[in-house]
Amino acid sequence: MHEILTDHPLDACNSFGFRARSRYAVEIRSEADLQSALADPRLKDLPRRLLGGGSNIVLASEFDGVTLLMRIAGRQLVQAEADHFIVEAAGGETWHDFVRWTLDEGYPGLENLALIPGTVGAAPVQNIGAYGIELADRFETLRAFDTEAGTFVTFDREACAFAYRDSVFKHRPGRYVVTSVRFRLPRPWQPVLSYPDIAAAFRDADPVSPRAVFDEVVAVRGRKLPDPAVIGNAGSFFQNPVVAADQHARLKVSHPAMGGYPQADGRIKLSAAWLVEQSGFKGMRLGHVGVYDRHALILVNHGGGSAAEITTLAGRIKAGVMEKFGVQLVEEPVFL
Ligand code: EPU
Repeated sequence: MHEILTDHPLDACNSFGFRARSRYAVEIRSEADLQSALADPRLKDLPRRLLGGGSNIVLASEFDGVTLLMRIAGRQLVQAEADHFIVEAAGGETWHDFVRWTLDEGYPGLENLALIPGTVGAAPVQNIGAYGIELADRFETLRAFDTEAGTFVTFDREACAFAYRDSVFKHRPGRYVVTSVRFRLPRPWQPVLSYPDIAAAFRDADPVSPRAVFDEVVAVRGRKLPDPAVIGNAGSFFQNPVVAADQHARLKVSHPAMGGYPQADGRIKLSAAWLVEQSGFKGMRLGHVGVYDRHALILVNHGGGSAAEITTLAGRIKAGVMEKFGVQLVEEPVFL
């Protein structure tokens, strides 16, 4: 049975490390906890939100409602076939610990997604991706509680409508609570070395092992991205914008150094980090927050910062990039 916590601090539940409190909070350790908390007459009419690892959110200081803290644990091998493994993890598992477990157990395929902060349950919401792989590439199904219908539902890949840092869950905030996710890991394992940062380390390596890719991804992320336990941040703060090919061609005339990655639909993905750096924001400070000096896409809390300060900084960056390049940046984290 769930327990209701009152005036609960959330400083440790958001990777920016902002000071924040919720009038009520409930730790969800099982699907039964979830159902009983949702049915609890003391909580029923209050505003409600769900927190996983808190690594992709900008949290306001006060919430006059109930925060459900996803803590359901568990991971298992579901199926081992000649051409694939199916593995499952509960929504409250830490993503990186789960990835490490799959390698320890001999089910490789998620190693490029090592060290991404957050929980398993949050991973499909923004379709996490790094170093040439997206969650959607390894996704089988997920189980979620539909808070409107009051039933558990299973989503296959199509129903999730995955796209770059996007899914159906992002567009229906609050409706679904993801309680477990299944992954399909193809056999035999093939390394994904398409991303230049990773490929460089394996130029002369033969054969390549899953563990070596895992270690390299951990090393590259460690070099480029700040550890949220040391400097508060939410990973990339802006999505890489995708523009029409003719707009890219025009921009290239005035900014010859600008890169671009052609997409399947013919449009071009730009590097948001490059746009932010060229607009002069890299390393900039504003009050207690700023732009990380080693990667322009990461906004950081230097200590004592707030959602309001981050919002102001993000607004200035968006205006600066719009003025210089005419490109609209879109935030990646969710504002709560
Ligand atoms: N760049 C700059 N200035 C910088 C940093 C990078 O100009 O300060 C340029 C460089 O030219 C570099 C390019 O930006 O080649 C791309 O940088 P990077 O390889 O670091 O990747 P990214 O596009 O900035 C994306 C994801 C990351 C993911 C990496 C690796 C988004 C919004 N971000 O970053 O995901 O780890 O690729 O695959 O898609 C996240 O979503 O939170 C995240 C960290």
